[in-house]
Amino acid sequence: MTETLSRIAREAGELFREGYHASKEIAFKGSVDLVTQYDLQVELLLKERLADAFPGYTLVGEETGGGTGTPENAIYIDPIDGTTNFVHGIPFCAISIGLFAEGRPRAAVVYLPILDELYRAEAGCGAYCNGEPIRVSHEPLLERSLMATGFPYTKIEQGDDFEWVMRTMRSLLPCTRDIRRLGSASVDLCYVARGTFEGFYEVNLKPWDVAAGWLIVEEAGGRISREDGSDYAIGDHIIVASNGRIHAPLVERIRA
Ligand code: IPD
Ligand code: CA
Ligand code: CA
Repeated sequence: MTETLSRIAREAGELFREGYHASKEIAFKGSVDLVTQYDLQVELLLKERLADAFPGYTLVGEETGGGTGTPENAIYIDPIDGTTNFVHGIPFCAISIGLFAEGRPRAAVVYLPILDELYRAEAGCGAYCNGEPIRVSHEPLLERSLMATGFPYTKIEQGDDFEWVMRTMRSLLPCTRDIRRLGSASVDLCYVARGTFEGFYEVNLKPWDVAAGWLIVEEAGGRISREDGSDYAIGDHIIVASNGRIHAPLVERIRA
């Protein structure tokens, strides 16, 4: 399965790379939420290839939707995760494809076309970057942990999500080595999986942001949960990812 997903992601990656270096038509989904013609074009290409390769799966894409509720057999597609980076020429942006079978993460690919890093995982078979096995870090101490996070587009409303971001930052920043905001949730998750970050947390991510990275973290030996440490499910409002060893203190600080 991941061979097929990887082949499709690499093909779409060519269009992605072309767009990264080209001048773009930029439109706004909200007041800060950018979208380019490449978001749509890459998604349409992915959907066409995935529909041929995986008949029977509901294809759910950020730009064109698809499916209702939470289909048991679904492929969640983010054609450009990190569009703001894509527009500003920051290479941390990715194609994210997460395949769910019978409601569980089954296969995943996150491809960073500019850096040419391809992360993949299949349930029970481990996680890989460009063919090499990857593992989460062994760091047991939150104080020595490098964290990643992201800021939701709802920040603009300065409502509950914004307050959560500020409160969590207050609580975690003094207790960790530092906090990074790379600009792509799927990349953040892959960087937890490869041991670059010890942990990652964010509010208000969507299924296509996390569907692939979730499995890649777990297959690399890490842990994914809700804010209270219980099992994460697609559509949950808050995600916490870690190397597993710091998960309990991380969840505790996030809730403090
Ligand atoms: C965004 C990125 C970002 C995260 C936002 C996401 P997009 O996805 O993953 O890191 O902080 O919440 O919406 O809009 O670039 O696909
Ligand atoms: Ca995204
Ligand atoms: Ca996107």
